[in-house]
Amino acid sequence: MSNNRKTRQFLLAAILGLAAGIASATLIYSIPDLGPIDKSAKPGDAQTVTTGKALIGGAFSLLDPTGKRVSEADFSGKPMLVYFGFTHCPDICPAGLQVIAAALEKLGPKAEGLTPLFITVDPARDTPEVVGPYAASFDKRIIGLSGTPDDIAKVGKAYRVYMQKAGEPGAKDYSVDHSSFMYLMNSKGEFVKHFPHTVSADTLATELGNAL
Ligand code: NI
Repeated sequence: MSNNRKTRQFLLAAILGLAAGIASATLIYSIPDLGPIDKSAKPGDAQTVTTGKALIGGAFSLLDPTGKRVSEADFSGKPMLVYFGFTHCPDICPAGLQVIAAALEKLGPKAEGLTPLFITVDPARDTPEVVGPYAASFDKRIIGLSGTPDDIAKVGKAYRVYMQKAGEPGAKDYSVDHSSFMYLMNSKGEFVKHFPHTVSADTLATELGNAL
C-alpha cells in the first residue's frame, strides 16, 4: 500500500509539475505585445494587433520615389528603421515621422549609417510621387515607398502590420486604420526591436545609435 501510495503521489506530483510547466511555457510563448493602433478614423473602436518578434520582416518588393522597383536587398548593409503609415493620416503618422526626423537630427552624421523607410498603407492615393516627397518633407533621408496593393499587402504581412481601410465602401474620402510601430532591422534585414510612435526622440536616437 505504501508503495502504491508513493506511486500515486509521484504521479500526481508529476502531473501537477507538467501542468505548471505547460502553463508557464504558454505564458512565455504567448505574444506579449499589444501595441497602439492608429485609429484616427474611428477613435474608440476595438483595437487588436499582435506582433511576433522573430517573425517580423523579410523580403519585399516596392516602388521607390522615382517609381523604380526596389527590394530589401537594395537596403542591405545598413540597419533600417521601417515605419508604416499614409500621407492622409491626420496625426499619428506625422507625429511618428517627426520623432524619426528629430532622432536623425540628434544622431547627426551617424544617421548616415541608417536607412529610414516610410512604407504607405494606402497605395491607391500614396503613389511613389506622393509618398516620396511626403516622407522627405520630414527629413530628406526618409525614403517613402509605395507599390501595388498586392506589394503593400505582402510587406504588411511580413511586418505583421494591421491595416484596414475605414469609411464608406468606395468613398473617395477614407482613412486607413493601421498599427504604428517603428521596426529596427539590422544590416542583414533581421528584426532587432520595435518602438511605438510615442517613443521620445531622445530614446529613439539612443537606441538607433546603439545599433549603428
Ligand atoms: Ni497614421
